[in-house]
Amino acid sequence: MTVSYRPDALIASDISAYLAQHQNKSLLRFITCGSVDDGKSTLIGRLLYDSKMIFEDQLAALEADSRRVGTQGQEIDFALLVDGLAAEREQGITIDVAYRFFATEKRKFIVADTPGHEQYTRNMVTGASTADLAVILIDARKGVLTQTRRHSYLAHLIGIRHIVLAVNKMDLVGYDQAVFDAIVAEYREFAASIGIADFTAIPLSGFRGDNITALSDNTPWFAGPALMPHLETVELDVDADRARPFRMPVQWVNRPNLDFRGFSGLIAAGSVTPGDKVRILPSGRTTSVTRIVTLGGDLTEAGAGQSVTLTLADEVDCSRGDLIATADAPPQVADQFQATIVWMDQEELLPGRAYWLKIGSQTVSATVQQPRHAIDVNTLAELSVRTLGLNDIGVAEVYTDRGIVFEAYEDSHALGGFILIDKITNATVGAGMLNFSLRRAQNVHWQATEINREAHARQKNQSPRLLWFTGLSGSGKSTIANLVEKRLHALGKHSFLLDGDNVRHGLNKDLGFTDADRIENIRRVGEVARLMTDAGLIVLTAFISPFRAERELVRKMMPEGEFFEIFVDTPLDEAERRDVKGLYRKARSGEIANFTGITSPYEAPVNPEIRIDTTRTSPEAAAELIVEQIMGVWSPTL
Ligand code: ADX
Repeated sequence: MTVSYRPDALIASDISAYLAQHQNKSLLRFITCGSVDDGKSTLIGRLLYDSKMIFEDQLAALEADSRRVGTQGQEIDFALLVDGLAAEREQGITIDVAYRFFATEKRKFIVADTPGHEQYTRNMVTGASTADLAVILIDARKGVLTQTRRHSYLAHLIGIRHIVLAVNKMDLVGYDQAVFDAIVAEYREFAASIGIADFTAIPLSGFRGDNITALSDNTPWFAGPALMPHLETVELDVDADRARPFRMPVQWVNRPNLDFRGFSGLIAAGSVTPGDKVRILPSGRTTSVTRIVTLGGDLTEAGAGQSVTLTLADEVDCSRGDLIATADAPPQVADQFQATIVWMDQEELLPGRAYWLKIGSQTVSATVQQPRHAIDVNTLAELSVRTLGLNDIGVAEVYTDRGIVFEAYEDSHALGGFILIDKITNATVGAGMLNFSLRRAQNVHWQATEINREAHARQKNQSPRLLWFTGLSGSGKSTIANLVEKRLHALGKHSFLLDGDNVRHGLNKDLGFTDADRIENIRRVGEVARLMTDAGLIVLTAFISPFRAERELVRKMMPEGEFFEIFVDTPLDEAERRDVKGLYRKARSGEIANFTGITSPYEAPVNPEIRIDTTRTSPEAAAELIVEQIMGVWSPTL
């Protein structure tokens, strides 16, 4: 995810020097939600100023700027500190997330300044995913707005435990208690409706400095706390996490020599001491901790938020992606979930497509089903949708290709929060939260059959293969596949040809030609082909299979070396000229929608095992070439 450090924010070396200076103080991460108009920049500027975290030269520049802009009286316009140097003013919105650091006597702070504008849901989720607290800013003159609801919903969704309702600009409403009380009452009702049980409301003036560092004489009716003291004392997530059962995702196995084998990671929850019984997941093996090793020497105890290396009493299998947990309260393992997903990519979610799902230190292949509903972040209405676009939030089932160790997001952000990555572009396309596992995942087990793959293949005296033909409609896939199968048959081989036009009359007759349907078509065909190779057969498939991602998915389903991608390369104009089924003509006249090559894309293979140029090679010659090439690879068994 991208993080932009603005030129006016502290530079990295300053930050590390500064953090070192405050090393022993606890750290609170928080976000501020609101727009520039609500006085957000002024408030952040005030916090920085009051904590004396403004460098002298910045302060001088600020005073000069304030005079130039001509703000009321001689007071400093704190908004200039935060956004004065950025282009934000002209643009009127903050883009990306900017982080700022400051410290007081008691604590140090990182504040993620997130934009208020609707289309930047993604940025807010990025900035907030590690926050302990959210400051929801309200302009006392305007009250609870749609954006207040949106920010609160998102903050709650991503599991921020503490909400501060900062009713700002109290100076502009004469510090009137009735105004404050009415806003708080309205917000309380809304908060309860989305499950926010508790929040702290504070009447403020960022501009005048009321109730920021200390209680203000202007609001004698307010009992407190003021903002800064609250930020200094609110319970941190790490402290709450320490009270939970021990969990540490293994980031890497540390094996400098044969005498030492340690498992390194960041403790996500709980604490650990040498001698504790632990369970390695997903394998379930138990052992105990012998040492807690750190760069600064061995520890007698370590807890959530610390990075350590553990050594274990037994030589158990444990590698990157595994989890070390308390033996008697381990988390669950499952492969089907209900999740809430925030989509972050320009290209919409393709239900059924395989994405990488990264959760903790685990990375698995996963598909997202068609969403049950999306959520309108302004009205919180549930919308019926087929997919999710940029910044959409929806609830959907997620299937992973193997069991993952997890906890519900509300219990553990580390073991319940995930991101989705496009397998081809490597871009982060979504972020999500696991709500719960679907019980059926726990009840469906893989049946271990006795007559296995090898036994089936041995009886047929051959090695299973999957010959995957891909190409445009009318490129000649079926014709060539047919000829290849005839030759294999003549050689005494056991084979089967799955053909698009045939499979679509039966197994897949519920599917059309939208992207989502094509993905599902190929997924099913891949599964069937895989089962047929388990039966020992040489399987040939002839489907357009226009998307790289799904062809790769099928490739990954097969054991190494058994999958052959055969690209039947007929240029579009040639396929259209031949137009064997008359479909191109219909597609051009608009009678058929989503036609491959015309109104639907075809992603040609980049590195196919075999490529047939049909403008130079006859179907017979192609078939001969394929059998020859495959026989070459196969030679000992075929
Ligand atoms: S795939 O894209 O999902 O792999 P598949 O190979 O099963 O497609 O089916 C393609 C065949 O369906 C074509 O050869 C053609 O006969 C027929 N067809 C009907 N409509 C379309 C369409 N819109 N796009 C492509 N093929 C179509």
